[in-house]
Amino acid sequence: MSRIDVAALITALGGRESLQHLLGVGPSAVSNYLTKGALPNRARPLVCQALQERGYQVDPQSLSITALPLVKSGRPQARERQGAAILLIVGGGIAAYKALEVSRRLQDHGIKVTGVMTKAAQQFITPLSLSALTAQKTYSDLFSLTEEAEMGHIRLARETDLVVVVPATASLMARTAQGLADDLATTLLLATKAPIIMAPAMNPAMWSNAATQANLATLRQRGIEVIGPVTGETACGEEGKGRMSGPDTIVTAAVAKLAQTVSAGALTGKHALVTSGPTVEPLDAVRFISNHSSGRQGHAIAAALARRGTRVTLVSGPVNIPDPPGVAMIHVRTAEQMLAACKAALPADIAICTAAVADWRAQKPVKGKIKKLPGDTAAPTISLTKNPDILAQLSSHSQRPKLVIGFAAETDNLQANASEKLRRKGCDWILANAVSPDSSDGTVFGNEHNKVSLITSDEKEDWPMMLKTELADKLVQRIINTIGVVNAKN
Ligand SMILES: Cc1cc2nc3c(=O)[nH]c(=O)nc-3n(C[C@H](O)[C@H](O)[C@H](O)COP(=O)(O)O)c2cc1C
Repeated sequence: MSRIDVAALITALGGRESLQHLLGVGPSAVSNYLTKGALPNRARPLVCQALQERGYQVDPQSLSITALPLVKSGRPQARERQGAAILLIVGGGIAAYKALEVSRRLQDHGIKVTGVMTKAAQQFITPLSLSALTAQKTYSDLFSLTEEAEMGHIRLARETDLVVVVPATASLMARTAQGLADDLATTLLLATKAPIIMAPAMNPAMWSNAATQANLATLRQRGIEVIGPVTGETACGEEGKGRMSGPDTIVTAAVAKLAQTVSAGALTGKHALVTSGPTVEPLDAVRFISNHSSGRQGHAIAAALARRGTRVTLVSGPVNIPDPPGVAMIHVRTAEQMLAACKAALPADIAICTAAVADWRAQKPVKGKIKKLPGDTAAPTISLTKNPDILAQLSSHSQRPKLVIGFAAETDNLQANASEKLRRKGCDWILANAVSPDSSDGTVFGNEHNKVSLITSDEKEDWPMMLKTELADKLVQRIINTIGVVNAKN
């Protein structure tokens, strides 16, 4: 007997509890039906009748819905709305049925949802059930878009404010990280300029596999927001991390992202100068002074600004992460080169100095390699000199950006030191990181998370620990609000 789209039936009946109530069974029985794609024989006439009472036309043999009830009242038809639009990509995992719930709840926020399903997703739920809930055509085949003569897949990718992937399978994550475009879903993920949220769901071993974790890091690095997964019992019966976040969590994240996207373009026409990474100060031909900065935070800020339509110049010391898309990149090594590149990039409306600039450099770097001769007992003496203070110089420049922001890594007396730095450097805001006294452990440097306090001349705000990409978005949102005020005053 062919598989029944139990998820679609549940949705059409009004939820899992309705099916439980109808059949007099518990939640685990319903989970079983979903996994097996089957219902007990005694349940068939009951389900068929209940659906017909709700206005559906149902094939009694296959239990597939052949016609949908007319929408009478309540939620407006999505196509009539003028609001935000989301492309909901459904991947091939057991959690695909939850995408139906996500689509309903997104529409409760007045959002138009258009469904896209992978081939594998159609093994779990049908395009018809997603179309029924979204009141939109659901797309699944790259080559059968009726509008393909007009490049329909590109249009789909562009005419959306946000792309949400529910569930993001291990395979979808891998293909997206690799930049593959081998079906409609991955082509859209590659072609879209809208922000992307992924909600992964998979077996805990698949999740913790180094390949998946590497793909996750790549996706995050590129600004894709990843929600969950959470720890719990997964569909395959194993306990561990891999269970998809609940529809509520996904919808909340999507709505928050849309709110940010609405302000996208708020910085269009503005120029932001961002510094990132460490500087490397040569001692001789092979040795140098540097630090552990990975460039993750500065690069994330540059990417977040670029997503909001800002023209971004990113001046970075040597790092091992890719250049963010859509920014003008200037690669430097030393503090002096960084300062020169920053000055050359002016005028700018905003400057964000995230780079960990080495405070000192060798007064006279040796041209060759300082030789260690046999019998040398004393170590050579290296005279150091102070590097230019880029943050202070930009703050006092004749073409000073309207908003100058610095980062301060402090090991102790965070607030006092950061406030003093704000005053001494003449910048507008300082984001103070508490780095561990033993910062070589990579507490902040190189880590994906960061915890800062935002210090201005008259306030201090402690931000919770968050991903560097999230911190970048939060900071940019703050800049948008502030620039609005600055512009209104002028
Ligand atoms: C019953 C069943 C359940 C599956 N559940 C998941 C899952 O939860 N997460 C996942 O990453 N893959 C899961 N898979 C494997 C995917 O379906 C498979 O990798 C598929 O190629 C994914 O295609 P897609 O990424 O294009 O949707 C499952 C496979 C089967 C047969």
